[in-house]
Amino acid sequence: MKPEVLLVGTMLPMVVSELESTYVLHHHENPDDPSGLAEDVRGRVRALVTYGAVGARRPVLEVLPKLEIVACFAVGTDAVDVAHCRGRGIPVTNTPDVLTDCVADMALALLLAVQRRIVAGDSYVRQGRWLEANMPLSRRIGRHRAGIFGMGRIGQAVARRLLPFGCEVHYCGPNAKPELPYTYHRDLASMAAAVDFLLLTCPGGAATRHAVDRRVLDALGPRGTLINVSRGSVVDEAALVAALSEGRLGQAGLDVFADEPRVPEALLGLDNVVLQPHAGSGTVETREAMGRLVLDNLAAHFAGRPLLTPV
Ligand code: 8YV
Repeated sequence: MKPEVLLVGTMLPMVVSELESTYVLHHHENPDDPSGLAEDVRGRVRALVTYGAVGARRPVLEVLPKLEIVACFAVGTDAVDVAHCRGRGIPVTNTPDVLTDCVADMALALLLAVQRRIVAGDSYVRQGRWLEANMPLSRRIGRHRAGIFGMGRIGQAVARRLLPFGCEVHYCGPNAKPELPYTYHRDLASMAAAVDFLLLTCPGGAATRHAVDRRVLDALGPRGTLINVSRGSVVDEAALVAALSEGRLGQAGLDVFADEPRVPEALLGLDNVVLQPHAGSGTVETREAMGRLVLDNLAAHFAGRPLLTPV
């Protein structure tokens, strides 16, 4: 008998087709409301598959008495009720490492795009404005000071990419990592005051919620650049919009937002921001590797082997 699996939200087609052929697959859309889930299905589901933004929340978890594993298609499990799962002895897996390079690339791409005004320059050429005058100058990224909030796998990959540009790297996080050749700050606002670029690569969730508030944004200042490839929740978005609109913050490159896929209207009209649709890990290669890891974790679980990437 094939194990029964519940897929919450949408998923890469390659993952869906392998789930369909290996398991009995059920689909569910709303992570906060289990009402569409048939009673008999609730009692048979043994695995839940989800992705970063949708997660696995208590209302759905609670109606699945036979649940044995939650496999999340993301490194960030802030939308998964991991505490509830722990309490029931249900392991949660995520997809670390395979996405590190692409997310770090996105941070650098956003930093370059913002500093060198790549998107504005593209419009400048397309609109024929170059024929009238040269575009105003942009700013380099080299030999500036960059502060990374969250010096985990992705933060370290961002730091490695900044070094060849001649950037001085600072970082902030719960613990100093003396093995790293970068300057540690315990306090985020102090680091923001000491750098030109603030790059967010920390996990989301309660511990980092609104860590970047008005005080931090003001410390970064009117020449400062904010890059966010972690979670929208890390930034007080209203304070960010105000700081960018009022010129208290120089510019921002944002891949993530507080209420995705909704982006504050005010950001859409600002030319000192570059926006992305949460696409850090969104390359064919990385998403396939993430999908493979989700499937391999499930296979390991049902074969009684150790999980590859438990949280
Ligand atoms: C994904 C992510 O974009 O890994 C994470 O934490 O946020 C992402 O890689 C997402 O889970 C895929 O939809």
